[in-house]
Amino acid sequence: MTKTILVLGESGTEEASLTRAELAKYYEEKVSYYKNAPINLVYIKFVICLVDHSSMVFNLNNVRIKMEKWSTKTLGTQPLEKMSAFFNKRAESYREVHLGHVGIESKQIIASFLPSNVKSIIDFGIGTGLELEEIFKRFPSIEVIGLDVAKNMLKLLRENYPTQNIKLHNDSYLTFDFGKLLYDVALSVMTLHHYTHEVKTDLYRKVYGSIKPNGLYIECDYMLSEHQHENPQEMEDFYFSEYERLKEEQGITDDGEYHYDTPCTVYNQKKMFVEAGFVNVREVWQKENTVILLADKQAK
Ligand SMILES: C[S@@+](CC[C@H](N)C(=O)[O-])C[C@H]1O[C@@H](n2cnc3c(N)ncnc32)[C@H](O)[C@@H]1O
Repeated sequence: MTKTILVLGESGTEEASLTRAELAKYYEEKVSYYKNAPINLVYIKFVICLVDHSSMVFNLNNVRIKMEKWSTKTLGTQPLEKMSAFFNKRAESYREVHLGHVGIESKQIIASFLPSNVKSIIDFGIGTGLELEEIFKRFPSIEVIGLDVAKNMLKLLRENYPTQNIKLHNDSYLTFDFGKLLYDVALSVMTLHHYTHEVKTDLYRKVYGSIKPNGLYIECDYMLSEHQHENPQEMEDFYFSEYERLKEEQGITDDGEYHYDTPCTVYNQKKMFVEAGFVNVREVWQKENTVILLADKQAK
């Protein structure tokens, strides 16, 4: 049976300069690892931007390799980088690169989900504050508490919003004590697709405790949805197993935060919110792999 391997790429990789014949040889070795994979479609990251290989299809040992353009946020063979180092290094180009992948629409629409009486929000993984532009247009005097591990991202945020009411903490939202019953809305945008179910569910419990009764949690993230994928659970499992494989290959044994995309299915996301105590969990927006979910905290 022929298996299809979808090869996803990133610029700057050494193989980008190889000829087609050299590439075929190069992949032979990679393919030997994947050809026994229990699924038909696997994702490997290699080539792309320097040479356009998107039309190439190889047939090697009954494995069909199809090259497809993808963003930088895919599986990889590159060394895993600590989360803060990854974003510190890329802060200057973040806006252009990130919006090139996901577009501005998801950032802008978030403001429309905030209740009209909102006074304060906490934003996890606030980055350079792309999602704040529309929020400040709608609520100029809103108080924003932002957390991020990457200080260079926060520095740019400050430059972008010099006069607004923003308190920033250069810390991890996984460990930082952000208090109880303090905020009208909690928000996370494109930041939680790096963590396991356990880590996220613990965080959601903390988030639940931190917002006021009747408060709202908004999560916009890279998720695997049934509208987009035939078998989202299989993909989720594969991403997590690839992450473990890379950590093992690179001798990483600590529980530190590394930049690697492990998106979860929309179904699992909703389940985690419910486990943490949220009610009325709903999907309100989706474009390609970007999904926005809302969840309520009921008044006690
Ligand atoms: C893709 S960026 C998103 C930034 C912004 N929310 C946006 O949508 O443009 C992810 C951000 O989450 C931050 N981040 C990831 N894990 C974090 C953690 N455990 N604690 C705090 N910030 C974290 C990263 O440093 C990065 O700035």
